[in-house]
Amino acid sequence: LVAGVDTSTQSCKIVVRDAETGALVRSGTAKHPDGTSIDPQHWWDAFRSAAREAGGLDDVAVIAVGGQQHGLVALDAEGRVIRDAILWNDTRSAAAAEDLIDELGDGDPATGSGHRRAAGAQAWADAVGSVLVASLTVTKLRWLRDAEPENAARVAAVALPHDWLSWRIAGYGPEGESPLGPRLDALFTDRSDASGTGYYDAEADGGAGAYRPDLLKLALGRDDVALPRVLGPADSGGVAHASVAGADVSGGALLGPGAGDNAAAALALGMTPGDIAISIGTSGVVSAVAPARTADGSGAINGFADATGNALMLAVTLNAARVLDAARAVLDVDVHELADLALAAPPGSDGLVLVPYLEGERTPNRPDATGTLHGVRLATSTREHLARAYVEGMLCGLADGLDALRAQGVPIERVMLIGGAAQSPAVQQVATQVFGLAIGVPEPGEYVADGAARQAAWVLAAAGDPGAAAPAWSTTIATTLDADPRPVVRQQYAAVRDLV
Ligand code: XUL
Repeated sequence: LVAGVDTSTQSCKIVVRDAETGALVRSGTAKHPDGTSIDPQHWWDAFRSAAREAGGLDDVAVIAVGGQQHGLVALDAEGRVIRDAILWNDTRSAAAAEDLIDELGDGDPATGSGHRRAAGAQAWADAVGSVLVASLTVTKLRWLRDAEPENAARVAAVALPHDWLSWRIAGYGPEGESPLGPRLDALFTDRSDASGTGYYDAEADGGAGAYRPDLLKLALGRDDVALPRVLGPADSGGVAHASVAGADVSGGALLGPGAGDNAAAALALGMTPGDIAISIGTSGVVSAVAPARTADGSGAINGFADATGNALMLAVTLNAARVLDAARAVLDVDVHELADLALAAPPGSDGLVLVPYLEGERTPNRPDATGTLHGVRLATSTREHLARAYVEGMLCGLADGLDALRAQGVPIERVMLIGGAAQSPAVQQVATQVFGLAIGVPEPGEYVADGAARQAAWVLAAAGDPGAAAPAWSTTIATTLDADPRPVVRQQYAAVRDLV
């Protein structure tokens, strides 16, 4: 048996699967407080509760942890978390991102801030695959340096959510709270999550990958900080410690490298070049696996790494499932009623358009934007029109991301819609209209935890045969829908988006 863990923005989910067949054996979930910054202790507590709910993990051979990307977990020399982790969806470092872009652009002879900004953006894309936005860890370090210099001075190691949790499972942590103490050099991570920090170049040294201490220093003012060792896709970073109290984790289970959540989901879906996954969760993610990243200086596409050795090209919106949640709150309906209402209005909602940047947006990079509802008339002032406008606006935001991937020359052959909202018939139907492509909806599943479990099975296979490939677990596509392009929906959306 192997275990896959998803330490996400809202909860910890664990699946225990048969390493050979991938069959689900047990699972457990525990919610923790969410938000944009949080004490990592909640992740640890949720892991232990979820492990208990999953019947303990003392019979599994390998545990691998997938998780929300980018969050800054700053540790002091005693292994203590210095302040609440600042998460991927926290926009406080937006100005820091702009400063860092300008500073890297300073080498360009062009004068004027516009040129400097463009040169800096391209320089970041070339260096680490992504133009900086507030989500990336490096911007949070700059924010810390400027806003909390005393905390910044104490930083001895920087971890991400998934590698901090793996470290705790291995028995490390502050003295008195962990059996093995604060060994900062025992931290490990993988290429996919490291590629979202902004100070790691996954394609350096012919694809071996390397940290960029110069960029870390640019942000924090120093680079004497321990960073997690970056493991290969089927390497083991250590073993689970027997005294992971309350979770019934047997000592000796190998720990896989783990992965960022999007890379873990891609691994679960078995994505290869040509496949696109569109995930509608707390964040909206349009992702594609490609043999190598491109450097998109516009910033729409992040060139991250996947969990197998390829690139993972991503467009991420901050306004996905929560747009539908907002519609449900306004209309006081459940998910089924929202879908019924939306499907009762015509495509395009008779011109009622929502640009869904409810609390800022990342793609396009507009951290201070708010949402706009346009085209309100007597005839469109119905619950049905409003429901449809919210569904269409959310998906048009993701369709902009798909266009940006296309503009990077990414092959698009197969689209899979995942995440809780992908089960909504209204979301499925509108998706065929705004993406203009056939859509496959896999069976609902915990794709991040499942991808981590698949990685764990790979680690197990590689322990016996170093050349072993990832196990061939299959994904069932439950629903397939034909393309039904309705260009008017995108056109009217684009007109309003460009106005606001
Ligand atoms: C990816 C990103 C989000 C988080 C969500 O760049 O910021 O998808 O990983 O957990």
